[in-house]
Amino acid sequence: MTECQAIADDVRLGENVRLGRFINLYGCRIGDNSKIGPFVEIQKNAAVGRNCKVSSHTFICEGVVIEDNVFVGHGVTFTNDTYPRATNREGELQGEDDWTVEFTRVGKGASIGSGATILSSLTIGENAIVGAGAVVTRDVPPNVIVAGNPARVLRQISGRSQESGVRSQEEDDREPKGCTS
Ligand SMILES: CC(C)(COP(=O)(O)OP(=O)(O)OC[C@H]1O[C@@H](n2cnc3c(N)ncnc32)[C@H](O)[C@@H]1OP(=O)(O)O)[C@@H](O)C(=O)NCCC(=O)NCCS
Repeated sequence: MTECQAIADDVRLGENVRLGRFINLYGCRIGDNSKIGPFVEIQKNAAVGRNCKVSSHTFICEGVVIEDNVFVGHGVTFTNDTYPRATNREGELQGEDDWTVEFTRVGKGASIGSGATILSSLTIGENAIVGAGAVVTRDVPPNVIVAGNPARVLRQISGRSQESGVRSQEEDDREPKGCTS
């Protein structure tokens, strides 16, 4: 069986990047040792750092910068246009000149639960955790857990993980370690 991967020539892959089947990558950058699961699309001018895990069926759009050691769950949707329209004033399909990309940053060591939707023009702080199914509408501070729609802070994350990403047993039991793809 072929790998069924659509990887454009302008994609910049680091060392030891592992890519799943049925992915679509163009104009993006992926850092060393990162793993991208099947059915993931990463658009131009998006970046994934080193040692990241991006799980299957996730969409990372233009303008999203994901720093190192970030976990992205299954079916996570990023966005980059707050007021999207199909057509311009002339009634033609919108092109690149008809709208402006909005940027989003995911800080080092953060985790995003499956099915989360991340609205644009915001920052998810370092080591933060976004709960499954959350709709993130505002900046997420570092070292907190947020969940819900709209996402609200549940609590601070305590322990060594804030500094080093090394987790205590209690945190290991609580935090998403990542599914297999
Ligand atoms: C949010 C999360 C990290 C747990 O954080 P936590 O601080 O330990 O939260 P708790 O389990 O103690 O729950 C606290 C409250 O938040 C609620 N809650 C937990 N997760 C939630 C979520 N994803 N969305 C909405 N509410 C959630 C709980 O029901 C509980 O509410 P209650 O106080 O009214 O009973 C976890 O539930 C989660 O969503 N992890 C992501 C899992 C995932 O997607 N993994 C991907 C790889 S498979």
